[in-house]
Amino acid sequence: MRKPFIAANWKMNKTIEETEEFINSFLPMVSDVTGVDIAIAPPFTSLCVAAKLLKKSGVSLAAQNVFYEEKGAYTGEISPVMLLSSGCTWVIIGHSERRQYFSETDEIVNKKIHTAGKNGLDVILCIGESLQEREEDRTFEVIEQQLAGSLKDVQLDGITIAYEPIWAIGTGKTATKEQANEAHACIRDWLKKNREGAGEVRILYGGSVTPDNIESLMSQPEVDGALVGGASLRPDSFAMIVKGAVTA
Ligand code: 13P
Repeated sequence: MRKPFIAANWKMNKTIEETEEFINSFLPMVSDVTGVDIAIAPPFTSLCVAAKLLKKSGVSLAAQNVFYEEKGAYTGEISPVMLLSSGCTWVIIGHSERRQYFSETDEIVNKKIHTAGKNGLDVILCIGESLQEREEDRTFEVIEQQLAGSLKDVQLDGITIAYEPIWAIGTGKTATKEQANEAHACIRDWLKKNREGAGEVRILYGGSVTPDNIESLMSQPEVDGALVGGASLRPDSFAMIVKGAVTA
């Protein structure tokens, strides 16, 4: 039985003060919620303050990105060692916005996963097709390609997959629960065929998740949780999503 997992990806939102405000109001809202793992991924500048506030809360801290070297002359980059010392236990790798705006390829994503894993960080690997790829009926092919490239020589310990169809991100256009389940099943099949321990890997759905659609998405056997963008920016809506994940 895979434990539900709900993660907030704040993207490039919230100052240090706004982070404090969010966490101080969010934690009491979920203090009695059990049976679900929760993580929050604020921007780098808010990691330290978030780590202090989340200590002993049971809510984990995630980073939104990482570099694939441990230290050195890489101006502007952040290493897995730095993330660990900032209190992170998770890192999101390969988000479609990184692939789109920062030219991250599966090869780069793969290097990042290797360094993160070697340093003991758990990874949320994001994959998903564009609208054009879906319309050309290439969804499964794209998913399999991304898995093969990103997970080259990677074992599944510490890996969570987030299926985020690009056309559903920030658009208000959620995948139907059937579309999500079918894509997750394709991911699970690929993992089973190619790696040990595929049955325990959690597969999250991401793309316009809200308090209104979380229960329907979570009703699907292959949907183990969600990676939430816009609706994770308000403590009340993120808390409702967390609660919806356990009641589903
Ligand atoms: P939205 O929930 O805003 O669609 O973003 C999803 C996402 O990209 C999470 O990583």
